This record gives sequence, structure tokens and C-alpha cells, in this order.
Amino acid sequence: MQLSGKTALVTGAGRRVGRAIALRLARAGCDVAVHFHKSQGAAERTAAECQAAGARASVFCADLADAEACRRLVREVVVHFGRFDILINNASIFEAQSLDEFSLEDWERHLRINLTAPMVLVYEARDALRQARGRVVNLCDAANAHPWPTHLAYVVSKGALDTLTQVLARALAPDVNVVGIAPGVADWPEMYDAATRARLLERIPLRRAGTPEDIAAAVHFVLAEGDYITGAILPIDGGRRLA
Ligand SMILES: NC(=O)c1ccc[n+]([C@@H]2O[C@H](COP(=O)([O-])OP(=O)(O)OC[C@H]3O[C@@H](n4cnc5c(N)ncnc54)[C@H](OP(=O)(O)O)[C@@H]3O)[C@@H](O)[C@H]2O)c1
Repeated sequence: MQLSGKTALVTGAGRRVGRAIALRLARAGCDVAVHFHKSQGAAERTAAECQAAGARASVFCADLADAEACRRLVREVVVHFGRFDILINNASIFEAQSLDEFSLEDWERHLRINLTAPMVLVYEARDALRQARGRVVNLCDAANAHPWPTHLAYVVSKGALDTLTQVLARALAPDVNVVGIAPGVADWPEMYDAATRARLLERIPLRRAGTPEDIAAAVHFVLAEGDYITGAILPIDGGRRLA
């Protein structure tokens, strides 16, 4: 896909991986809708950096736990940019929840933000995406190869996102390619201490953590070079899923 002049919505683009994806797409010539929920200042800085790279970029606020807010977000992006070519479902929550800590509220919140929001965003954008022969990229998780019982709701939400990626690839074919990018460690969760980080590093064959830029490079690759890739979930994890 030729990226120049296309419009991309990146959810959760104020910080970390989402920010790196937004910047990478701006540098590749996309106009960028920088979505945020709470990180308004960071989102405004991301948009300013995208503009400095020559892109049109604006910020959009939405609580993706709210399906109506998801639908409104797509409509606002279409009105603002006049087109909608690329949807990057990056926003997510990642909270510990063991079996004994199970709470229906936390479970449903994970599913709403990590699974239902990508579905509703695709649903609302489907006509524009088809017309643009566009792309959807879902941020999955390579850790699903070793499902963590400490993060039940998160793991299930991301497992279902893998399935959603595959079924949407079929539902939107042949017009729209749908791909999953599955990071291993892309940016350390802020609550991980040095000992936890060292322990996890030992299980990564490439012996380093990934970076947000590693993930952004993979997103760029599937968009720019992935015309024959759909329904695939690419692990970007330094080999972690094998060890
Ligand atoms: N980081 C990693 O090592 C890693 C590993 C495996 C998979 N992944 C996946 O890669 C993606 C990016 O990872 P990350 O670590 O950069 O993500 P993150 O920092 O945990 O979250 C990204 C953004 O999601 C947004 N978000 C959370 N709740 C929201 C809500 N209710 N409504 C709207 N937005 C909401 C937040 O936006 P605001 O700050 O604006 O509120 C947040 O900045 C995620 O899908 C994650 O599951 C990451």
C-alpha cells in the first residue's frame, strides 16, 4: 500500500507504542488521527511531532470502554480528514487478575477496551475502509503462547483479539487486509521492577527487550509491503514465544 496521503487512526497514541506507531506513519507520509483517553498533553505532543514530520495530525479524545464513543471517534476522524484508510487498534489495558481475584467488572472492562472497541471501530469504519481498500492492524500479544494465569482477563481479551483478527480478515476480504502484530516485550510495563525485568530478559532468545520502534517498524512493514498478508498474526518478540 502506498502510504503517502492516507489517513490513519492510531488509538492510544499519546505514549509508548502508540506514539511510536503514529510517528512512524507520519514519517511515511500518512495523516494521523492521534487518539487518547487520559493523556491529552502527551497526545498533543505526539500530534506536534507528526506535524513536524510533515503530516496533518489532530488529537481525538474517546473512552474506548464506551461503544458509542468508539463510533463517534470514527465519525469525527472521517469528517476531519475526509477519508479513513488505516485503523491501528493499539489502545489496551493490562491489569493483573488471578482466578482468586476474579471480578466481573475488571473482566468486562478488559473485554470492552481490548476486544469490543476494536470490533466497534472496525464496524463503524467498514464502509470507509472498504472504499479506501484500507488496512486494519490489531496490537495482539505474543505472550498468548504462554497464557499467564496472573492476568486472566487480559490474556482472554488478547486471545479473542487474535480470533477477531482472523475472522475480520475473512469478513473484509478482498477489500481490506487485517493483520495482528504481537509484541513480546515492547516497552516494559511501568510497574515491573529491575529484578522482574532481568528475569524476563533471560527468557528472550535475542537477550534484549524490544522497543516501541521495533513494533512501529513491523506495523509500517505490514502496511507498506503487506499487500498479500491478511489474517496473519506476526510475533515481534525476540523469539520469546519459543522459550
Ligand atoms: N508494551 C509491551 O511490551 C506490550 C507487550 C505485548 C503487547 N502489547 C500490546 O501493544 C499495545 C501497546 O502497548 P503499550 O504498552 O504501549 O500500551 P499501554 O501503554 O498499556 O496503553 C496504551 C494506551 O491505551 C489507552 N487506553 C487505555 N484505556 C483506555 C480507554 N478506556 N479508552 C481509550 N484509550 C485507553 C491509554 O491512553 P491514555 O493514556 O490516553 O489514557 C494508553 O496510553 C497494546 O495493545 C498492548 O496490549 C504491548
